[in-house]
Amino acid sequence: MAIIAQKCPHITVTVVDLNEKRIAKWNDADVNNIPIYEPGLAAIVKEARGRNLFFSTEVEAAIDEAELIFISVNTPTKTYGSGKGMASDLKYIELCARQIARVAKNDKIIVEKSTLPVRTAEAIKNILENTGNGVQFRILSNPEFLAEGTAVEDLLNPDRVLIGGDPTAQGQEAIQLLSDIYSNWVSKDRILTTNLWSSELSKLTANAFLAQRVSSINAMSELCEKTGANVNEVAKAIGMDSRIGPKFLNASVGFGGSCFQKDILNLVYIAKTFGLNEVADYWEQVIIMNDHQKRRFAKKIVSALYNTVTDKKIAFLGWAFKKDTNDTRESAAIYVADDLIFEQAKIAVYDPKVKHEQILEDLNYLESRTESQNNKYIASFDNPYDACKDAHAIAVLTEWDEFNDYDWKKIYDSMLKPAFVFDGRNLLDGRKLTEIGFQYQAIGS
Ligand SMILES: NC(=O)c1ccc[n+]([C@@H]2O[C@H](COP(=O)([O-])OP(=O)(O)OC[C@H]3O[C@@H](n4cnc5c(N)ncnc54)[C@H](O)[C@@H]3O)[C@@H](O)[C@H]2O)c1
Repeated sequence: MAIIAQKCPHITVTVVDLNEKRIAKWNDADVNNIPIYEPGLAAIVKEARGRNLFFSTEVEAAIDEAELIFISVNTPTKTYGSGKGMASDLKYIELCARQIARVAKNDKIIVEKSTLPVRTAEAIKNILENTGNGVQFRILSNPEFLAEGTAVEDLLNPDRVLIGGDPTAQGQEAIQLLSDIYSNWVSKDRILTTNLWSSELSKLTANAFLAQRVSSINAMSELCEKTGANVNEVAKAIGMDSRIGPKFLNASVGFGGSCFQKDILNLVYIAKTFGLNEVADYWEQVIIMNDHQKRRFAKKIVSALYNTVTDKKIAFLGWAFKKDTNDTRESAAIYVADDLIFEQAKIAVYDPKVKHEQILEDLNYLESRTESQNNKYIASFDNPYDACKDAHAIAVLTEWDEFNDYDWKKIYDSMLKPAFVFDGRNLLDGRKLTEIGFQYQAIGS
């Protein structure tokens, strides 16, 4: 929405959320305090905020005034009832649709921006048409393909913008209206229009294919470790094949983030609902492989540290699920920390953008132990040198660029010996660290 506001000064964009604390942060006088860290975002918010970009908790007033409403609420994996652990929880979407129906007094276009299971538009349409005030709603699907960490760049120069709508004249008119907004900065040949169901399913498919590549190369990383092959070399060799390409081939401790796991589980659930068990099992294996990779990394640390990490200090460089974001949802760091805390290790975290409260909250969410127990095992530091001082080992969990620039000799000198580095992101220069004296272990070599 910030990008739309920046690129279309003639359009008023109002972002509403029920969460008052979040909206207060979006309105913070110091634009660096906005709740999402994303390179380039603060400057854009600064430019448009108060001009044609507004943040508010007045949801109903905003619904009333809008001609076009983007539903962008959360669609987490269900934690209860049928489909628990797999299906998307659509309660926020439904509540949102009902609220729009109740408040709207004139015709509106409703855009599904959240990632939704195929055929959700039908449900939204049904709710809107049967609970509303007799006004006309046109539904579009416009899934978001941005990646966190590169969101601004992805939105400014998208590979494609996908808009799904009804084949009726009214549906096509709505598609045209949304397409005209994007045309302010996206060339027409990158705006793809489809029917609603293709659009909804394309988003799940894109995430499933990307996550599958990560799990595929991670499966190879384990085989590399057993055979003396080097996964980076294998990835380079296959990535140069133009049919395969180099992206999403970095072996690592596993993918995280709020989308991949949630969307694949959702796809698995949809397949199961249609009785397509082989299809479901095929995609579920991507998740099983990812879980295995996280566990395997924790096991590798314990086994290298002479099969005991009790009371040992293990420094974590990075907690966010990837670089250039402060998002920690489903971050591999959480699961690796949890496994190591089961072994009674002390974890010392440094992440350039993640705060201690978030780290603690992530661990508490797993419900493996009480908050006070977690507190005993996890500490965080505002610089890497303190985090690593007197540590037995360092584990790299996020690929922040700055980790390469540290004074690694100074870190080595401050650690207990032998000093280990477990590079869960294959980020650091292993040869340099080995020369300093570190025992360096990367993924897949
Ligand atoms: N995060 C990403 O990179 C990304 C990328 C593409 C698509 N998506 C999809 O976008 C959707 C949102 O993801 P997110 O990461 O922003 O989730 P989020 O949980 O960070 O944000 C959702 C927000 O919606 C608010 N909300 C819920 N119900 C509301 C209501 N009735 N009225 C007003 N506000 C309400 C919540 O308070 C919350 O702040 C999901 O479907 C996700 O799959 C996310």
